[in-house]
Amino acid sequence: MIKVQVVLSPALLHLFDSKNKNVVVIDILRATSTICTAIAHGALSVKPVNNTDDALILKGSGYLSAAERDGHKLEGFDMGNSPFECMNGAVLGKKIALTTTNGTKCITAATIAGAANVLSGSFLNITALANFLKADSRDVILFCAGWRDRVNLEDSLFAGALVNRLVSKDELDCDSALMVMDLYHRAKSNLGLYLEQSSHYKRLSRLHHQEDMEYCLQSDVIDIVVGLKKGEMVNMA
Ligand code: MLT
Repeated sequence: MIKVQVVLSPALLHLFDSKNKNVVVIDILRATSTICTAIAHGALSVKPVNNTDDALILKGSGYLSAAERDGHKLEGFDMGNSPFECMNGAVLGKKIALTTTNGTKCITAATIAGAANVLSGSFLNITALANFLKADSRDVILFCAGWRDRVNLEDSLFAGALVNRLVSKDELDCDSALMVMDLYHRAKSNLGLYLEQSSHYKRLSRLHHQEDMEYCLQSDVIDIVVGLKKGEMVNMA
C-alpha cells in the first residue's frame, strides 16, 4: 500500500520528507495543466525556469519562451501560460522554457527536496497519473502550488481527487489528505460551480480566461504521464 501525503502550500514542503518519493506538483490553473497539454500536443519538453531572464536565455538556444505573472502573459515572450497556446501545432517538435508565478518554482523545490520522480498533476491526465503512481508503488507526496504560498481551492480539490483514486480513507495517516478528500467529495458534482468563489478563479475570470478554466477542469482528455527528466518535463512513457 502506498503512503500518500498532501502538502497544501510550498511554505509547508519542508515539513515533509520528499526523498525517493513520487512528488506530484499540482498547479491546476494553470501551470501543470498547461505542461501536460504541451507535451500531449507534441512539445519535446517543457523546462521550468524560476525567472524571466532564464527563459529569454533559452530562447536564444531555440526554446519557445513562455512567461506568466499574476495570470498575465508577459510582453516579449512567445507564450504565456494558457493551454490553448499549446494547441494547433504551435508547440509540435519544440522545447519550451516556462516560468510562472507559482507552479514552476514548485517543480524546482520538489527536485531540491530529493523526489524520485517530479510529476505534473492535472485533471486532464488524472487516470494515467493515478495508474502510474499505483504501479510504481513508491510513497507519494501531492504538492499543491497554491498562490504565493497561500492555500488555494483548485489545487486542494485536485489533490483530493487523486487521493480518492489512490487509497481508501482508512489507509490515510495525513490530516491534510483527509481534508482534501472530503473537499473533493463535496465539490465533485460540479467543480466549476464550486470554484467560482475561489480567488484564482475570480482573478482569471477578470482576465477573461474562463475557457482556460473550463478546459483545465476536464478529466482524462490526456492519457500520458508527464514528469521531469534531466530538468525538463517530458512524456514519461
Ligand atoms: C501559476 O503558476 O501560479 C499559475 O499557473 C498562474 C496562472 O497561469 O494563472
